[in-house]
Order: sequence, then structure tokens, then C-alpha cells
Amino acid sequence: MAWNDWVRGPEVEPSLYAADFAALGADIVTVLDAGARILHFDTGDGHFVEPVTIGPIVLQAIAPLVHDRDGILDCHLMVDDPEHHFEQFAKAGADSVTFHYEATDDPPALAARARKHGLRAGLAFNPTTQPSDVAARAEGFDLVLCMSIWPGYSGQTFMPEALGRLGKLRALLPDDVRVQVDGGIGAETIGPAHEAGADLLVAGSALFDGRDPGAAYGRLAEAIR
Ligand code: DX5
Ligand code: ZN
Repeated sequence: MAWNDWVRGPEVEPSLYAADFAALGADIVTVLDAGARILHFDTGDGHFVEPVTIGPIVLQAIAPLVHDRDGILDCHLMVDDPEHHFEQFAKAGADSVTFHYEATDDPPALAARARKHGLRAGLAFNPTTQPSDVAARAEGFDLVLCMSIWPGYSGQTFMPEALGRLGKLRALLPDDVRVQVDGGIGAETIGPAHEAGADLLVAGSALFDGRDPGAAYGRLAEAIR
């Protein structure tokens, strides 16, 4: 399936990092039933970012559940040496991998390698990296991810300066490259981030910290409709 077939328009992407890991399958079914199509899966290696989070073993366990419901697994690799992990992620059921500009010297070459494994490719960048530097190396990518927090943990506050960075990025990228935003997206920030140019909006704690992730998904999706 082509990436542009996955994306119906602006999409809220639940970040499973913020889900209840003791009830992960149930949380996944809840947000998919509420209308989510693309699930965001955060892998941290304890080196590029401080925490060790979740990886291919968990991905493999949830992939059938997600794919049976026509869901997509969009994997955010907050890791050093991202290419080292592509094959394992592909085998575990990833549909795309997004790795960091700061973790590689040659982003287009890595995008090509990801594609060889049947993966779509995304290029993420941290708050102090220039959007123009990233856009200049975004050839061959399906999406570019502008971090609106320092990567590592869910539940941080949206950095308002991300709005200007999103606008710059959107203006510099070809129309068919999606702009994704990740970090601190919730009721207050989703509208401005979308208006600034993001059409893939990752939300973790805003969905899963409350009692009803399905209803929270519905409210955020409505805000960008
Ligand atoms: C953290 C991850 C995020 C995280 C977002 O670095 O990349 O995807 O789960 O969580 P919230 O939406 O709570 O900021
Ligand atoms: Zn993420």
C-alpha cells in the first residue's frame, strides 16, 4: 500500500508509548475502533535518548492485531545506528521507520535502505536542528518529523517555537512529503500545529492519560477536521 493511501488527510497518530502496557492490546483496539489508522511506536535505545522503551519484540506481538484492523505501524526510532535495526523492524511488522537526522550522516542513503526492506521512511529532527538543513536532505522520504519536545519521554510540554519550525519545514518540502509533529500535542496545541503545516499529529499522554482514550481520540480528530 502506498503511503498516500494510508493517509486520508490530517491524521491523529496515537503514540503507544503512553498507553497502559499492562493492557496494550485493549488500548490499541480502543483507539483503532475510535477511528485511528496510524499508530506511532517509539523505540528508544538508552543512548540516543535516555530511556530504553519498546522494540521489535513488542512490535511483533501487536502487529497482527493492528494489521487485521487495517492499521499501520509507524515506528519512531530514537536510536543511534538506525540502519542496524531496519531488518528486525521490517520482520516484526513495521510499515515505516522514522529515524533521526542527528543519528546519521547520510539520510537519503538510509531512506533507500529502509525501502529495500519494504519500509516507508521518515526523517525526524530535534528542537535545535535547522528545518532548512533537514529539508535539504529529505530526498526519498515519505515524511519529515519535527519534534516539538526533546525526544525521550511522553508527557512533556509542547515547545511553542515548534510552530515556526513547522511552517518553515512545510514551505521547504515538496507537497507529497508529509509533515509530522510529535510531543505535547493535545486539545490546546493540535489546532495550531495543524495550521502551521503538520498533517500527521502524534499524541500520547493526551489520549492515554485519561480514562477514555477513544473519546480523547475523537476530540482531537474533530479539532483538525
Ligand atoms: C517521545 C516520543 C513521543 C511521545 C509523545 O519522545 O517520541 O512520541 O510518546 O508523547 P506526548 O504526546 O505525551 O508528548
Ligand atoms: Zn515519537
